[in-house]
Amino acid sequence: MPATSDNTRQRVAVFGAAGRVGRAVTAALLHQDHHVTAVLRDPTRHELPPHPQLRAIQGDAQHPERLAPVLRTVEAVVLAVTPFTAPPQSFDGFDLDYYAKIVIAIDEVWDRPDRRLIAVGLTATLTLDSGQRVMDDPTLFPAQLRPFAEAHARELLALRTTTLDWAILTPPAGFGAQPEPATGQEYQLAAEPVTREQATAQLSHARYAHAVAAELGTPTVHGARVAVVPRVT
Ligand SMILES: NC(=O)c1ccc[n+]([C@@H]2O[C@H](COP(=O)([O-])OP(=O)(O)OC[C@H]3O[C@@H](n4cnc5c(N)ncnc54)[C@H](OP(=O)(O)O)[C@@H]3O)[C@@H](O)[C@H]2O)c1
Repeated sequence: MPATSDNTRQRVAVFGAAGRVGRAVTAALLHQDHHVTAVLRDPTRHELPPHPQLRAIQGDAQHPERLAPVLRTVEAVVLAVTPFTAPPQSFDGFDLDYYAKIVIAIDEVWDRPDRRLIAVGLTATLTLDSGQRVMDDPTLFPAQLRPFAEAHARELLALRTTTLDWAILTPPAGFGAQPEPATGQEYQLAAEPVTREQATAQLSHARYAHAVAAELGTPTVHGARVAVVPRVT
């Protein structure tokens, strides 16, 4: 029995579906009765738990033009890719427009009227209630990783130039730190500025993934970046 309370069954392409976040999002979407197309650079390298509403295809987020026929079949995209699974030794040669180029290209090639894109954000881009961005506080974010934060920041600017129905859902710094909860439902969306406590909170991938699935089933965030933080009761 699907856990969804709404009856909006979406067809969703998850870019990076075999990653830490992508797997959790894929599982949450399938649990909510959505149909998922897992876009993987090399499907032979990853095994996803089989599901009748899941198909895996070869594709590269940096070349969405090759995915135009697939994109035409989905109402939504979740962008959960990263050029760095772990912090790199150096950012030499890193394209600060890595994410910006991907979302612009998706906008250009995705040919259908309803086009919802949810991007997985980065804590470092969030603005705190002190007025400072997380990335500007070296006690919260290592200065040497700033190019990565800048790339995520540019993604937001790029999305604003598109006609996509987009949302950036930004996890807190303690993302993935918690064991997966049984329900994964106790989260809230927080507009910026966020408190330091919110920015540094812990949130499991499952709880975050539930927020993504909910934003696809019943969208509430349009053309904005929000933080996904634990619900304070
Ligand atoms: N606290 C935070 O703000 C926080 C913490 C963690 C992650 N994040 C964000 O969450 C997102 C996902 O991170 P993650 O931890 O899930 O990373 P991950 O475990 O390394 O997974 C990323 C996945 O993306 C795939 N991928 C990379 N480039 C691709 C491309 N061009 N086309 C298609 N697939 C591609 C990789 O597949 P391959 O096997 O082909 O390499 C990998 O499976 C990133 O945007 C990251 O910045 C935020």
